[in-house]
Amino acid sequence: MSDLSAALVLVFTAGWCVMCAADVGDFAPCLQVFYKSWPPKGLAGTPICQRYYNQYRFASLYSRPRRSPWFSAYLYSAPAGKRPTACWKFEPQLAYPGADGNMVPFPPGPLDQNVVDSQAVELDYINSTYSRGHLNPSLHHQSHEDRSATFTLTNVVPQKVGSNDGPWEALEQTVNTTLAAYCLGEAHVVTGVIPYQSDEHWLKNHRVAVPEYLWSAYCCPNYNNSLPEELRDAFPTYAAIGRNDRNSTEEIVPVSQTAKKQFRGFDVRQMPLETLEKYLKDRFSAAVSVFYEQCSGSD
Ligand SMILES: *[C@@H]1O[C@H](CO)[C@@H](O)[C@H](O)[C@H]1NC(C)=O
Ligand SMILES: *[C@@H]1O[C@H](CO)[C@@H](O)[C@H](O)[C@H]1NC(C)=O
Ligand SMILES: *[C@@H]1O[C@H](CO)[C@@H](O)[C@H](O)[C@H]1NC(C)=O
Ligand SMILES: *[C@@H]1O[C@H](CO)[C@@H](O)[C@H](O)[C@H]1NC(C)=O
Repeated sequence: MSDLSAALVLVFTAGWCVMCAADVGDFAPCLQVFYKSWPPKGLAGTPICQRYYNQYRFASLYSRPRRSPWFSAYLYSAPAGKRPTACWKFEPQLAYPGADGNMVPFPPGPLDQNVVDSQAVELDYINSTYSRGHLNPSLHHQSHEDRSATFTLTNVVPQKVGSNDGPWEALEQTVNTTLAAYCLGEAHVVTGVIPYQSDEHWLKNHRVAVPEYLWSAYCCPNYNNSLPEELRDAFPTYAAIGRNDRNSTEEIVPVSQTAKKQFRGFDVRQMPLETLEKYLKDRFSAAVSVFYEQCSGSD
């Protein structure tokens, strides 16, 4: 190889990697979604800056082997308008590192095999016993584009309907009304999953891993101090864990016997951030920090 062609190869490879680094493998372009630009520590995966119509909308830490996210992180904004009709999207850059990084709606016809290999596709969920559970919910965003961008399968985990339409949805609504009423500045939210301890569960084709629990936490350092009694513990941070399996034991989240039958066993337990981090540490066998300095509100 001549020196000139070696130099060209070098330039070409370097350019290609700069492009891929922009969207997969690096949170740098979308750090603003994290409190103090500080992504959660202690979890390993593939960072995705979720881009739609050429704007970064939120961030996900994706697990390629699980074909589902560990968490999604976003800035809350008070919702306006109706939930968009679901138009499900995928991430071409997981299959082709040179792709431009915008999520793309699934085409009606057959899918590129590299896309199918690299991520979950609609067929994984169709006729399974799980619904598509948004980690970053459409309900927590104002603009139509921000809401539509949540409909990407890299922001979704297999979630039982009894959780998705029951206690977990109630949590999303409580967070909405609490933040809308008392958060005066930015609210950073991180929502993630807790895997089974052993004996992983999978969707029917053994491609997409099912989580045992979902968790969520927010950080709103600038809030209205005249909080009603019942919200004294809801600022500056607040966290919760929800069951995604009726059969789970009750150490982490106890089961209420008075819940409606279709929602029974999918309870959500609210807890301080420190308690959530303790459960994450136990299950991941690593210290997990969700927010910089536990969102201590030093600004
Ligand atoms: C889903 O199940 C229905 C009813 O059994 C069947 O008609 C349909 O073809 C299935 N769809 C897929 C994509 O497997
Ligand atoms: C979110 O909270 C706002 C403010 O309380 C409220 O107006 C709105 O109806 C809530 N949205 C949903 C979908 O619950
Ligand atoms: C704080 O909350 C109180 C009680 O709900 C309300 O009267 C007041 O207007 C709020 N202040 C701000 C800055 O939103
Ligand atoms: C829960 O246990 C029942 C009975 O053993 C079993 O049929 C079902 O598949 C289990 N559910 C999950 C999600 O493992």
